[in-house]
Amino acid sequence: MNSTPAIRTEALTKIYRPGLFEKPTTAVSNLDIEIPEGEVFGFIGLNGAGKTTTIKLLLDHARPTNGRALLFGEDARNPRTRARVGYLPDLPHFHQFLSAGELLDYAGKLFGLSYNVRRERSEKLLKSVGLEGHERERLRNFSRGMLQRLGLAQALINEPALVILDEPLGGLDPIGRADLREIISGLKSEGRTVFFSSHILDDAQRIADRIGIIHQGRMIACGKMDELLTKRQDWEVELEAVDGFDILKICREMEWQANLKENLFTVSVPDEEALRQVYTFASEGKIRLLSVEQRRLSLEEAFLKEVDQWRA
Ligand SMILES: Nc1ncnc2c1ncn2[C@@H]1O[C@H](COP(=O)(O)OP(=O)(O)OP(=O)(O)O)[C@@H](O)[C@H]1O
Ligand SMILES: [Mg+2]
Repeated sequence: MNSTPAIRTEALTKIYRPGLFEKPTTAVSNLDIEIPEGEVFGFIGLNGAGKTTTIKLLLDHARPTNGRALLFGEDARNPRTRARVGYLPDLPHFHQFLSAGELLDYAGKLFGLSYNVRRERSEKLLKSVGLEGHERERLRNFSRGMLQRLGLAQALINEPALVILDEPLGGLDPIGRADLREIISGLKSEGRTVFFSSHILDDAQRIADRIGIIHQGRMIACGKMDELLTKRQDWEVELEAVDGFDILKICREMEWQANLKENLFTVSVPDEEALRQVYTFASEGKIRLLSVEQRRLSLEEAFLKEVDQWRA
């Protein structure tokens, strides 16, 4: 395994200063990311969180105000790094009069690929993104999802070691999303690194090895899915009170969430210590335990929780 990360950012910061009398916007703030080669990394955040700006900095489409970005150990501003990167923009814009085949051919030319290689790769890529048979069709007839698929094929024409996808799931129907997942896992099995942004958490959860959550330009959580989720596990306990034991009072004091339905309490127990307390009540005969179930938060819940903490 190569120890030079595919992506590394060091205190990467971008402040937009639109005009003399307008307030500057800190789009990306002190971002430190390290993504090893071969990893699929999901970059998650709300609209305006700073995802696209980060991607622009990685691609040298924007200059950092502070800090820097390195691709395979080289400054992202070095044009040499581009040859190893494939990029799908958030809103792919293609010339409407081109056909799908012509667009891929053109993209291949930009990377100096020979005619034969261009033909071979175009054919293979159109097939893998589900656009087989559309090679000669004009792009003005393409739906948004088809353009997105073509954008992906275009991003892969140079067989990049690093693929950067800005909202690749946008505009895709469920089949398109499943196809994309398959394409990304194919890229991973070939040892390529994938960096994608999304606010569709469910898909990100299925695709990514690791997730970073960006909020107002700052990375507020980053880790393997398991780490992000298990840190936030809790238990759902169903119980009955025995002999009028006032479990509701305890819940209020402990700030545990509780619901009562026909003598049955459903209590959300936040951590192991609290769970031990519940077991103690049971062994003292104050409550009767009916079920204890460990709950893992979905990434969506974890995400909203992180964001909430920062809002508070
Ligand atoms: N060229 C620009 N000039 C000034 N401000 C900008 C510019 N581009 C982005 N911003 C601001 O920077 C912040 C981050 O924007 P960015 O496009 O990176 O967010 P995003 O996470 O990609 O959002 P979305 O999910 O909507 O695509 C926003 O507040 C945005 O208004
Ligand atoms: Mg964006």
